[in-house]
Amino acid sequence: KDAYLTDSFARVHNYLRISLTERCNLRCEYCMPVEGVPLSPDGNLMTAEETMRLASLFVRLGVTKIRLTGGEPTVRRDIVQIVEGLGNLQKHGLQSLAMTTNGVKLTPRKVAQLADAGLQRVNISLDTLDANKFEKLARRPAEWHPRVVDAIHAASARLGATGGVGARANVKVNVVLMGGSNDDEIEDFVDLARDNRVDVRFIEYMPFTGNRFDREKLVSFDDTRRRVLAHAPELVRSASDDPSEVGKSYAPPPGSDSRFAGSVSFVTSMTQPFCGDCNRVRLLADGSLKVCLFGNAEVSLRDAMRRGDSDAQIASLIAEALGRKKARHAGLDALPHLPNRSMIQIGG
Ligand code: GTP
Ligand code: 5AD
Ligand code: SF4
Repeated sequence: KDAYLTDSFARVHNYLRISLTERCNLRCEYCMPVEGVPLSPDGNLMTAEETMRLASLFVRLGVTKIRLTGGEPTVRRDIVQIVEGLGNLQKHGLQSLAMTTNGVKLTPRKVAQLADAGLQRVNISLDTLDANKFEKLARRPAEWHPRVVDAIHAASARLGATGGVGARANVKVNVVLMGGSNDDEIEDFVDLARDNRVDVRFIEYMPFTGNRFDREKLVSFDDTRRRVLAHAPELVRSASDDPSEVGKSYAPPPGSDSRFAGSVSFVTSMTQPFCGDCNRVRLLADGSLKVCLFGNAEVSLRDAMRRGDSDAQIASLIAEALGRKKARHAGLDALPHLPNRSMIQIGG
């Protein structure tokens, strides 16, 4: 076990991100162009059965954490059934079943259904606390903004109370900072973490095909942390982080009488890459296995299944792809020019 999931740098890939769809109900500017991106024809997308077969194989090979992404995973009508199917893998070694969503369709009822089906963790993307600004950033109606805020509260009520601090929190709010767009809201987001059992994560803006990355808009970890700590001096770097977590988290010291309910983390992909501890592989909606967020060396597990490969043959393909994984992605300057896919197809 784990032999198939270990790369040539001894990194064990026990975290599988599954993109369930290339579609999304928002049009966030850092993710895709306003006109959208060309979608794969339906026949090229994996069926729910194919996704289940691969997920189950990955768990047998040693994956302990699955996160569902998109596009936007909740636009799939069968999302609850998929979570239920994956939830059954909890009997076979899966320890964490999670989802990253924009929250627009995550009603309190949907939160309950997903949690009942086995979903343990949810990360909700929200880049502004201002409904009018939401309309500019997500290019969808301002009226949708309160649904996302409600989703955060519903998820925190249902999943947040069952534990986890900092990077281990069950409910996280993903904030991609863009200079001149939402960096004036850093303190407001810290207040959100103060008042709720959530981990608010400030994410450095990353380049992807078609997102018109602008280096000038990158708000660095150093600058953001300075502002966060000026606003909430009671926060200290928490010791409980797993080395393979993408976030560096800050919370009140254990045992303190701080009224700070949640935590704040930083995803420092650009200024302090964390590739050395990477434990992530990605299965895209079209069945491609992507061994790094950046870079386009992929292998189609869909094709392997459709030509009749056995699980053992597919396991070998996975091991070979991981064997080609690089030590780290190219430097900050080369990154915007690397051939890659758009974020909407990768799912983060
Ligand atoms: P947790 O399981 O809660 O730690 O979530 P996560 O951070 O793995 O997933 P999420 O979908 O919430 O992604 C948050 C941010 O981290 C997004 O901007 C992702 O693109 C980024 N991210 C996720 N995995 C990687 C990775 O392997 N490398 C880099 N550089 N960024 C990543
Ligand atoms: N840079 C950093 N994070 C991004 N995300 C989407 N596009 C980018 C980008 N260009 C985030 C989303 C979501 C997660 C899956 O990835 O906000 O929370
Ligand atoms: Fe959709 Fe998420 Fe991309 Fe925004 S970041 S457009 S919510 S996939």
